[in-house]
Amino acid sequence: MGIFDSGFGGLTVLRAIADLMPDEELIYIGDSARYPYGPKTKNSVTRFSIEIADYLIENFGIKMLVVACNTASAFALPELLEHLSIPVVGMIDPGARALALASVGERIGVIGTVGTISSGAYQTRLAEIAPKKRLVCAATPGFVEFVERGETESDQLKVLAERLLRPIVDAKVQSLLLGCTHYPFLARAISEVVGPETILVSSAEETAFQVRAELIGRNLQAIESHGGDVTYITSGDPADFRRVGKNLLGIDLGAVESVHWD
Ligand code: DGL
Repeated sequence: MGIFDSGFGGLTVLRAIADLMPDEELIYIGDSARYPYGPKTKNSVTRFSIEIADYLIENFGIKMLVVACNTASAFALPELLEHLSIPVVGMIDPGARALALASVGERIGVIGTVGTISSGAYQTRLAEIAPKKRLVCAATPGFVEFVERGETESDQLKVLAERLLRPIVDAKVQSLLLGCTHYPFLARAISEVVGPETILVSSAEETAFQVRAELIGRNLQAIESHGGDVTYITSGDPADFRRVGKNLLGIDLGAVESVHWD
């Protein structure tokens, strides 16, 4: 199964998939050379996503693609579904579902990249599945860069979080979806700003359950165990990817392979 993100964020989804389906062979691409996706156009993010999907199919014969990036899911999922003949799972549906299920009160929120929030993908989906809730969305540009540097706690991050999360705090949001796969790495900093009354919702587990359901539904589960093997590939510097990946996940990723796009 192929999993990709603009960088390290998708590792939060990979971890949930590996926990739930330890027998599956996983190939992860972090497109670090072209991150962040958040401020880029729909056309660029769609082109990157198709390029990565084709690479994973040609080189690894993947049976399913997981778009472990909310921005790429918001922008490129329809094109990927049309272009590919394998099943594709994105983040928006599981994210919206996880938030709707975790919302105790009527005030809900989503934070994500500029691309994700401006695409309206969560606004549209949540209006369908949770029409009675009051939704507040906020773009939080700059968060991804902190994670990519491996910086999950600092005064600068705190200052940025206080400014960008103001609409969420002011609206007294009760359940907040971390609508970018990088953000669970910043959960401590985000929680300190929004306070303990706000439940933080990550969509990694819900996405893993959807992946599992798709595999079972199509009879595509691994027949024999791959022993938890993960192949990590980056378009950035492999040594940096291994170092920051270890810092974020707390495990050594082992050798990281390299890919270059034209
Ligand atoms: N992890 C990506 C997401 O979920 C981050 C996008 C970016 O690189 O800005 O949106």
